[in-house]
Amino acid sequence: MNILAIESSCDETAAAVIADGRTILSNIIDSQVETHALYGGVVPEIASRGHMQAVVRVTDAALHTAGLTADDVDAVAATCAPGLIGAVLVGANFGKSLAFALGKPFVPVHHIRGHIAANYLAFPELKPPFLTLVASGGHSLIVRVDDYTKFEILGGTRDDAAGEAFDKVARVLGVGYPGGPKIDKMAEGGDPAAYPLPVSRVKDAPMDFSFSGLKTAVINLAHNAEQKGQTLDKAGLAASFCHAVVETLVPRLAHAVEQTGVKDVVCAGGVAANSWLRRALTDMAKQKQVRLYLPPLALCGDNAAMIGAQAYYEYQAGHLGHTAQNAFATAEITEDICGKIR
Ligand code: KG4
Ligand code: ZN
Repeated sequence: MNILAIESSCDETAAAVIADGRTILSNIIDSQVETHALYGGVVPEIASRGHMQAVVRVTDAALHTAGLTADDVDAVAATCAPGLIGAVLVGANFGKSLAFALGKPFVPVHHIRGHIAANYLAFPELKPPFLTLVASGGHSLIVRVDDYTKFEILGGTRDDAAGEAFDKVARVLGVGYPGGPKIDKMAEGGDPAAYPLPVSRVKDAPMDFSFSGLKTAVINLAHNAEQKGQTLDKAGLAASFCHAVVETLVPRLAHAVEQTGVKDVVCAGGVAANSWLRRALTDMAKQKQVRLYLPPLALCGDNAAMIGAQAYYEYQAGHLGHTAQNAFATAEITEDICGKIR
């Protein structure tokens, strides 16, 4: 079954064709990152307008690369939640309209379910149940994936997502948007003990965490240094920050492994590209004797291939969109976004 998938929830306009949820026939990504970098972050209206301009071209390119026409696809899928609502609406409405014009089923996909499904494309043997650490720009969660469309949230952030913290710290250190990859690079060779930074604990919730204290600590450090005219050890601060993020996330996931006894562990989302996190997860997996699946770097960030992978399983479960299907800025990973009217 070939699914044409569209993704537009943030600043990437993407389209892909995926066969049977597991094989990438094409994967086209048109990034607006250079435009938003001028403003130091994503400007929602510019993102929506960028999707309007790119979505047809990107979809054509995905079909062309796959060697198919629109008539050849069996279903059309699109991210319908969560994300910047103006941005999500463009891809969701385009995908839905295309599906109904072609007389094909429309499959609404939850963006974070898609991030997890990126791993199905890289690892043919991966099947639920497994545990996932989701670390993206908008979400940080520890999730038990019981089945392809059945999720249980075990823990999550009480405030900022990991990616958000990276982007904020990058701004304070003056390296601009998008912050994650730049901080990762800056931290290379830095001393992770250069600056003592806080690692959060949430009382009576061993798998929950918070990044606002860490973010504030870095901001205060940078401002104090500036006021006193001191030079910051930027590599050391970036390394200390990466270390603190990893120390926040990885022990919570290790706790989930202990609590559930699940032996397969997956990482997902843009922050899954972080080299410190990848190393720490690899060490944890060895120590706990679990199989670890790290998505290839090209599938960590936003793309439509992951949406096509998840769409296949949503389709199998009968989760189809109707003509009045809407898009949503927020939706829990556990929610059914198909029938939802808000
Ligand atoms: O999953 P994603 O592409 O978009 C959302 O669904 O939010 O994640 C984007 C986030 C951004 O905050 C970006 O700074 C972060 O992922 N990111 C990284 C790295 N690459 C991207 N964070 C840390 N280290 C990286 N190498
Ligand atoms: Zn994403």
